[in-house]
Order: sequence, then structure tokens, then C-alpha cells
Amino acid sequence: MDTKIITELTKENLQLVAHALRSGEVVAIPTETVYGLGANGLDEEAMDKIYAAKGRPSDNPLILHVSNAESIKPLVKEIPETANKLIHAFWPGPLTITLPKSDLVPNRATGGLNRVALRCPDHAICREILALAGVPIAAPSANISGRPSPTTAQAVYDDMNGRIPYIVDAGICTIGVESTVVEVRDDGITILRPGGITKEMLERVVEAVSYDPFLSSQNEAPKAPGMKYKHYAPDAPMRAFIGLPKAVAQAFTDVIDKQTTKRGAFLVSQETYDLLKNNVHGEFHVYGHCGDAVTLAHDFYKTLHYFNECGVDYILAEGVENSGLGVAIMNRMEKACGGNIIHL
Ligand code: TXA
Ligand code: MG
Repeated sequence: MDTKIITELTKENLQLVAHALRSGEVVAIPTETVYGLGANGLDEEAMDKIYAAKGRPSDNPLILHVSNAESIKPLVKEIPETANKLIHAFWPGPLTITLPKSDLVPNRATGGLNRVALRCPDHAICREILALAGVPIAAPSANISGRPSPTTAQAVYDDMNGRIPYIVDAGICTIGVESTVVEVRDDGITILRPGGITKEMLERVVEAVSYDPFLSSQNEAPKAPGMKYKHYAPDAPMRAFIGLPKAVAQAFTDVIDKQTTKRGAFLVSQETYDLLKNNVHGEFHVYGHCGDAVTLAHDFYKTLHYFNECGVDYILAEGVENSGLGVAIMNRMEKACGGNIIHL
């Protein structure tokens, strides 16, 4: 199968894509978080194609994407008051809400669970495609399972060339890490996956916000099945350090000194770069000033893809504090490193 990247976002082309989705094809679509691998969320065979293209385990459910809040009504048993508050505050946006599913939602979308994950993306082109398709669109991140998520059409192409007919190219995703997944309970909400909407933001709207215990103790089973899988791994082994720039630069230097014949790649803040630049050779990506979680989120997957292209032997990254958007970033970074994170 030839994979076509659609760069001209004309009404005709978006109609073509919506038609392909409605007739059971898989199409990569942009969102504000990462690119998604979309298919008709009411069509089991279409969703089977997503699992095949990604090589995704079949117990890992999909998020159904809608163009507006109204569209979720037929997909759920009821919409509790807390869910309405979240929808009002954060949709369109990077928040996915799981609610008891209606009979209309096939088991293929939920991996057999009785809840369905729903999200209305804050991306004009994406929502236009969703509206034209007229059906909820199931869309996991558009990477092969286990690899870094794509934030550009080129990154999607690198994984999906030959596997899907179309990629809609709307440039780089603004947020760069996936949506926050929450489960709405009677007495509050549980964050199953940290993401673009932070715990602090949720607490401004809902009183009781907790994290799934799995996120701090790997002994628990995660409520979002996808959280248990190995994820976001770049080609080269990666290690991360968190601390003040001086300590991070020293830790990098200690590692680099032992790797004399190997080519390194370094994801660092401006401050750490300034300390290293005169003594270290390798691929650098500077994400902004120390602690700039917004820019690090935006650049993170893009940089892992870039380091893959460079074919480096190892990667060192500077992390950020585990608060605000930093929670989502460090969740991804920890997995990309296989847990190899050192607090200095
Ligand atoms: O930002 C995003 O959410 C992106 C874009 C494309 O919208 N999508 C995305 O999908 O990240 P995916 O499939 O890569 O991750 C979805 C996560 C997985 O961890 C999955 O297990 C969880 O959401 N999930 C989906 N449905 C669920 C459900 N019914 N109950 C609990 N967790 C669910
Ligand atoms: Mg994913």
C-alpha cells in the first residue's frame, strides 16, 4: 500500500479523508497532543486495522475522538455532573474521560472494558475531519507500539509507511505529550495517565483528584491497560538526570568521559548546554531554559525521533521536576529510559 502525506488541507482533501475513515480505512490525523491513527470507532473491522498497523496488544483500549461534547451522548450510559464540569472546563483539549459505555460502542474499542475513553481534541483540522466523518474516531498515537509517539507527519511516515493510505500533515503538534486520561468516580476523579491537563488544573474544577496508585507503585495493576507496556523507547539506550544544571552537566561529563568511542546525543536546558558546549561533541537539542516543561513537552518526542535519525549510540537527557506538566513528561521519560533516571 502506498502511503500518501496530505499537505494541502483543502475542503476536498478533508472530505476525502473523512470518507476514507467512514468506509473503514485507517488514516493518521493531527491533534494538539500527538498524531493519532484514526479509524471508525463504531466499526470493529476498521479498529482491527489500527491494532494491526501498530502491532498493538488487543487488550489495550482506544480513545474515541469526537468533534463536540454533544456527540458523546449516544456513546455513554450517563454523563455524571463531574464529567460535565470537566467537559465544560477542558474540552476541546487534552483531557480524556472514561465513562460507562453504551451498547453502541463495540468491545473492540474498549478492549472488553465496560468504560469507554472519550476526548474532544483542541485542533481545528482534526475537529473538521471528525465532523465530516460524522462518527466517533478511535485513535491511538500513530507510532508502532513501544516506539516514541509522533508529533510530526514525517515521524508518522517513518513508522507507518506502507501500512496506511493517508497521513494528514498539519505541522508539529503544539503540546507534544498525550492527553491526561481520567476516570470519573462518584466521589471524584482518578488520573490514570498524566498528560497535557495537569493535576493542579483539574483540582481547580473538581475537589477530589487522585493518581492511580499504579503510577507511584509498580506493584499495583494500572487501570489504563496501556500503562503497563514498555513505551516510547528510542533506538539508542537512554539515561536521564534531574538536578541543578551544574550537577547535571557534571553527571553528563562523567558518563561521556567513559564513552570515548561512542556517539552521544544530549537533550538539555540552555543552562546545562552552556556548561557543556565547549568540551562535549555530539548531537545536542536545547529545549529552553532550565525547568521549562512546556517547551520540553513540545520537543520531547520530536527530539527522540531526531536522535533515531542521527543513529547515535546513546542518549542523555535532563529531566524536570515532577510537578505540573513535568509529571507527564517524566512519566514518558522514565519509560523511554527503561527506568534509568537519577535524581542528583
Ligand atoms: O493525546 C492522546 O490521548 C492521543 C491522541 C491521538 O488523541 N491518543 C493516545 O492514545 O495517546 P493511546 O491509545 O496511545 O493511549 C490511550 C491510553 C492507553 O493507556 C489506554 O490503555 C487508555 O488510554 N485507555 C483507553 N481506553 C480506556 C478505558 N476504557 N479505561 C482505561 N484506560 C483506557
Ligand atoms: Mg500511545
